[in-house]
Amino acid sequence: MKILNKKLIIAIDGPSGAGKSTLSKALAHQFGYLNIDTGAMYRSISLLAQQRRIDPHDSDALKILCADLSIEFVLRGASEDVLVNGVDVSDAIRTPEISLLVPQIAACPVVREAMLQLQRKMGDAGGVVLEGRDIGTVVFPQADIKFFLSATAAERGRRRYAELQEKGIDVDLQQTIAEVKARDAADTARTLAPLMQADDAIIIDSTQLSIENVLQKMVTIVKAKQAELAG
Ligand code: DC
Repeated sequence: MKILNKKLIIAIDGPSGAGKSTLSKALAHQFGYLNIDTGAMYRSISLLAQQRRIDPHDSDALKILCADLSIEFVLRGASEDVLVNGVDVSDAIRTPEISLLVPQIAACPVVREAMLQLQRKMGDAGGVVLEGRDIGTVVFPQADIKFFLSATAAERGRRRYAELQEKGIDVDLQQTIAEVKARDAADTARTLAPLMQADDAIIIDSTQLSIENVLQKMVTIVKAKQAELAG
């Protein structure tokens, strides 16, 4: 059957620093799709938990927190703001304290279950790019296209270091690379929905590629999929 202009579900998984955020935003923009940054969703719950002094191991309190949560992504020019219960938390969820807290919150089963439901609700109708760690394996195993973006830890550390330097934040390069490796280990070792490559994912190693190069590859693959579905 021919499906003209089917609104696709596109999953982009991979470790931190592989360029997922930039690329998923750019890809969504290219096709007029909604971009769902699932890491920002885990960061948002972590922020609320921190503000309300909830222990990351207190499942009951986290469950209540999730039940009463609204998360929206709002496009403002080139940037995408994150609103939690109507409040703009775009900057507040990116502090080092939240980056440290989020792996513990993201490992909590009640939080993952709540996010799973929310992400499926947001993405079910298609026309979405979802960026995360478990999109192609757990959230949307039936996604139309699954990308797995990777790059060596040293390269991802160097990118993070350059980003921080640009913001005027002075850090040590080796320390930054070590932090990237530690985060990989935490995301991969977790028993529930770990960072994992789906068997049918298209792997793109961006170590030697520019963002533009990777975007071009992705756009070509999405267009080929659309053409295939249109018969
Ligand atoms: O992509 P990010 O760095 O903003 O992700 C923040 C944290 O959330 C990171 O520790 C991994 C976790 N995460 C997750 O467990 N599952 C996802 N689908 C997305 C992010």
